[in-house]
Amino acid sequence: MRLFSSVLLPAILPLCFADGILYEKRDFIFSDPSSACSQLGASIAIENVTVNFANFVPAGTNLSFTQDFGLADCGYPSALVTSDMCRVAMYVATSYRNSITLEAWLPINWTGRFLSTGNGGESGCIQYTDLAYTAGLGFATVGANNGHNGTTGVAFANNSDVVEDFAIRSLHTGVVVGKELTKQFYGTAHKKSYYLGCSTGGRQGFKSVQSYPLDFDGVLAGAPALNYPNLNSWSNHFYPIFGDPGHATYIPIPLWAAVHREILSQCDGIDGVVDGIIEDPELCRFRPEALQCAPGVTNSSTCLTSAQVGAVRDAFTDLYGVDGKLIYPRMQPGSEVIASLVYYANGAFSFSSDWFKYAVYNNSNWDPATFTIADAKEAEDQNPFDIATWNGNISAFQNNGGKILHYHGQMDAIITSENSPVYYNLVSRTMGLNSSASDSFYRFFRISGMGHCQGGDGAHFIGNQLASVSTMDPQNNVLLRIVDWVENGNAPETVTGTKFVNDDPTQGVEFTRNHCKYPKRNVCTNPANYTSPDAWTCV
Ligand SMILES: *[C@@H]1O[C@H](CO)[C@@H](O)[C@H](O)[C@H]1NC(C)=O
Ligand SMILES: *[C@@H]1O[C@H](CO)[C@@H](O)[C@H](O)[C@H]1NC(C)=O
Ligand SMILES: *[C@@H]1O[C@H](CO)[C@@H](O)[C@H](O)[C@H]1NC(C)=O
Ligand SMILES: *[C@@H]1O[C@H](CO)[C@@H](O)[C@H](O)[C@H]1NC(C)=O
Ligand SMILES: *[C@@H]1O[C@H](CO)[C@@H](O)[C@H](O)[C@H]1NC(C)=O
Ligand SMILES: *[C@@H]1O[C@H](CO)[C@@H](O)[C@H](O)[C@H]1NC(C)=O
Ligand SMILES: *[C@@H]1O[C@H](CO)[C@@H](O)[C@H](O)[C@H]1NC(C)=O
Ligand SMILES: *[C@@H]1O[C@H](CO)[C@@H](O)[C@H](O)[C@H]1NC(C)=O
Ligand SMILES: *[C@@H]1O[C@H](CO)[C@@H](O)[C@H](O)[C@H]1NC(C)=O
Ligand SMILES: *[C@@H]1O[C@H](CO)[C@@H](O)[C@H](O)[C@H]1NC(C)=O
Repeated sequence: MRLFSSVLLPAILPLCFADGILYEKRDFIFSDPSSACSQLGASIAIENVTVNFANFVPAGTNLSFTQDFGLADCGYPSALVTSDMCRVAMYVATSYRNSITLEAWLPINWTGRFLSTGNGGESGCIQYTDLAYTAGLGFATVGANNGHNGTTGVAFANNSDVVEDFAIRSLHTGVVVGKELTKQFYGTAHKKSYYLGCSTGGRQGFKSVQSYPLDFDGVLAGAPALNYPNLNSWSNHFYPIFGDPGHATYIPIPLWAAVHREILSQCDGIDGVVDGIIEDPELCRFRPEALQCAPGVTNSSTCLTSAQVGAVRDAFTDLYGVDGKLIYPRMQPGSEVIASLVYYANGAFSFSSDWFKYAVYNNSNWDPATFTIADAKEAEDQNPFDIATWNGNISAFQNNGGKILHYHGQMDAIITSENSPVYYNLVSRTMGLNSSASDSFYRFFRISGMGHCQGGDGAHFIGNQLASVSTMDPQNNVLLRIVDWVENGNAPETVTGTKFVNDDPTQGVEFTRNHCKYPKRNVCTNPANYTSPDAWTCV
């Protein structure tokens, strides 16, 4: 018989709480978390890692980042810490000429889970609100600046190490370092590893699945910026289509509201009810000629000139390249009001023109108005570090037992939601999987009425980020659903979204809706009761 001495367990007390999946088990709690945190900071010896600080942060602290980091332009001025934690800020060299800024938020109430957050756009920004969300739920969480600071692509110029960090090295480095820190802090390795990201973060999640298939057990990837060089080409192509104010094809912002109304009048009823939300925009073959002005009318707030009709038709048409191959699918109809502020009536789109200026051509004078599909070919051919993230063979991830929950808002104004099924179907073809076979490890949900990662006219509160939490029930919360799938085998059949009155949870629920698993689509079978989820069926 072997006896365990109590001195083996000085500061680590296993504790169990039984109030649901979220707090299913907290394995370790420290009797003196503050000194445990500073000890961790003092003792870290990981190659290429320099600790900037390791601070114990009590629950209730409102961290301010504008003062700490001068990253005001990142849009994360503050974050409320909801669980006692050890916050470790690090500098990690990734090459002789570049580095990442990495933070680990290690909650004292730990669930045994590790999680990495991702980034957005062309940043450059630790997504502190995602760190607060996930650390608050007991994940040992990391977030990095993706290899450069700020929101522009200027740092890519003439520096392939910055591009390599942005493509995948920052995320993978953070995972390697973060898992090691987790082990050192809690005295035991994590049990399961997760990823949460949207947009560029969605792409990073798939890139990890493709290139580092052992890094995560569960990946929650939203609105992924897949086929990245081509996405930048597609994002650029709207500017030459519509031009600047005064150009014959330019459509002012108020007129886009009229286009949106016409799209709804042609397509809203296809799903069985007229409720302002298009469930399946792929079925909407919008005909802009319906808005054609009468002869002689050239400046109207309700109709389009022939030149404008032609431009709208171009924007809603798949984009093909010099070799006749698809560059990117068309913008899905339904997101016009926001998309006019992003693309159609807003001149050049800086994220994508930065890609051409600083990654493709190293020329800050490159003029996005000159964009043609010849530029698209150049960008696609370069594809540095395979940032396209378009590999359909993800069998290594599947064989490791990994699960992917992929979602895309059907009102996305920045990355067309029609690209997500193109990737899902590429995986199907490449791996020889029908949809029920894919279901064992990869499920894709189309979230009607959801904008780019957030917002929108529909039931878009799905728990993919702190600001979009309705409840902690895995049926309503995709983060807790991926955990439930990985740890308990409860795979999602539908994702339930909530629409709050004025998108404000304090004003009450307007309606909830079950979003369908691709390739199924939502059909309203009881239009009189369309605000009830029971009125809908996935077919
Ligand atoms: C945190 O502080 C910022 C100002 O730094 C403030 O705008 C924000 O409302 C505060 N958040 C909370 C939850 O108190
Ligand atoms: C990025 O910001 C961090 C935090 O302020 C700073 O430590 C680091 O030096 C910055 N990196 C670059 C390349 O400017
Ligand atoms: C840990 O979780 C328990 C149970 O939910 C809670 O009572 C306690 O306040 C938490 N402790 C910290 C330090 O967050
Ligand atoms: C440390 O950084 C160097 C490049 O500067 C890299 O070659 C090496 O692999 C890194 N070590 C680890 C453990 O990541
Ligand atoms: C731009 O710089 C990158 C990084 O040094 C390099 O890989 C690329 O070939 C350059 N592009 C051109 C068009 O010179
Ligand atoms: C179009 O009409 C608006 C007012 O309805 C006016 O402000 C604008 O100058 C007109 N544009 C042209 C090109 O005539
Ligand atoms: C990249 O380097 C080239 C060659 O030195 C230089 O002409 C160009 O201006 C640089 N590009 C940027 C955006 O700094
Ligand atoms: C997919 O990749 C694995 C290696 O991860 C390889 O063994 C397999 O042959 C590939 N399958 C296809 C269809 O290319
Ligand atoms: C789908 O694939 C699975 C696994 O290969 C197979 O068992 C099933 O019969 C297939 N379904 C159809 C409709 O062919
Ligand atoms: C509408 O849905 C609610 C909630 O599911 C249900 O209680 C009610 O009977 C339904 N009414 C009709 C007319 O179908």
